[in-house]
Amino acid sequence: MIFEQIATGGCQSYLVGCAETCAAAVIDPELSQLDRYLAVAARDGLRIRFVIDTHTHADHFSGAGELARRLDVPAVMHRASPAPIVDMRVDDGELVAVGKLRLKVLHTPGHTSDSMCLVAGDRVFSGDTLLIGATGRTDLPSGDPEALYDSLFHRVLRLDHALKVYPAHEYNGRSHSTIGREAAENPRLQTQDRAAFVDMMRSLNLTMPTHITEALRTNMSGGKTVAQMLAEAAATVPFMSLEELKSRLEAGDDELIVLDVREREAYRDGHIAGAQLLPRGQLELRVNQELPDPTRRILTCCEFGRISTLAASTLRVMGFQRVVALDGGMKAWREAGYPVRSGSDP
Ligand SMILES: [Fe+2]
Repeated sequence: MIFEQIATGGCQSYLVGCAETCAAAVIDPELSQLDRYLAVAARDGLRIRFVIDTHTHADHFSGAGELARRLDVPAVMHRASPAPIVDMRVDDGELVAVGKLRLKVLHTPGHTSDSMCLVAGDRVFSGDTLLIGATGRTDLPSGDPEALYDSLFHRVLRLDHALKVYPAHEYNGRSHSTIGREAAENPRLQTQDRAAFVDMMRSLNLTMPTHITEALRTNMSGGKTVAQMLAEAAATVPFMSLEELKSRLEAGDDELIVLDVREREAYRDGHIAGAQLLPRGQLELRVNQELPDPTRRILTCCEFGRISTLAASTLRVMGFQRVVALDGGMKAWREAGYPVRSGSDP
């Protein structure tokens, strides 16, 4: 078995492959690492055939839908998953055939109703059902401590104790554990009493994950994250540095239109001398009056350099082929001590 563990902070993703056929699967890909999975697979001569999420993640952005779409391979999740991006829904006891390697599905609800563990050879990918020294929480949408008890004590702990455990999260730098070690040492598995386990899970009082709203929105719908929107826009436009813009303005570059896409009040409080105001919200509808010459070189700017990137990308789509975005925003411009002009006049 070809195996690679790829961590993104505490999130653990896995690339598993069949050495004989060079087919591979990615388990629990994180959205910001898609290029890395593709690079590792290419380096190892693997062809990714499946992209698998062990459950609907609430605390980070799944890259499963996007990676599956890019590779034109199935996104795989449990039958109970609400995500529309899933192409292949699997159920308890089924096998995903990755070349000659077999990933066996264990439906292990509890952390979420669609949680599953995948057993392959000498290891189990335990998702957030069993973590090293912990378990997945049960207080997020579709979590159920009673179901987690059954999944852990009646399914996972009955697996071969020699199996290596590779969880979807590990925050303390340990790569894996074993079923036997978790059975013996995991503090949450030391009581076999169902009611006591459920009480313990209900009284954990954990803080909510940072990006839960956005993670659930995008992971359950296949929609895009804000970071994804920005990254996609940034991949289509060139940028100009603050220093370059300043020196061009000082040199009297009158070919360049500086287009400030913030709201009128922000513009009034301080803008780059000569900048033309066209708020982002009105961009598409006012562009014909405000920017009649699509061959002009235009630089978009905003407060933090994000909205200006989206605006520049939109303008490029609309046929303004010489649009660039300011690398940074007015905040950085002011902090650099560069000159601003206040008032409504350019
Ligand atoms: Fe999770």
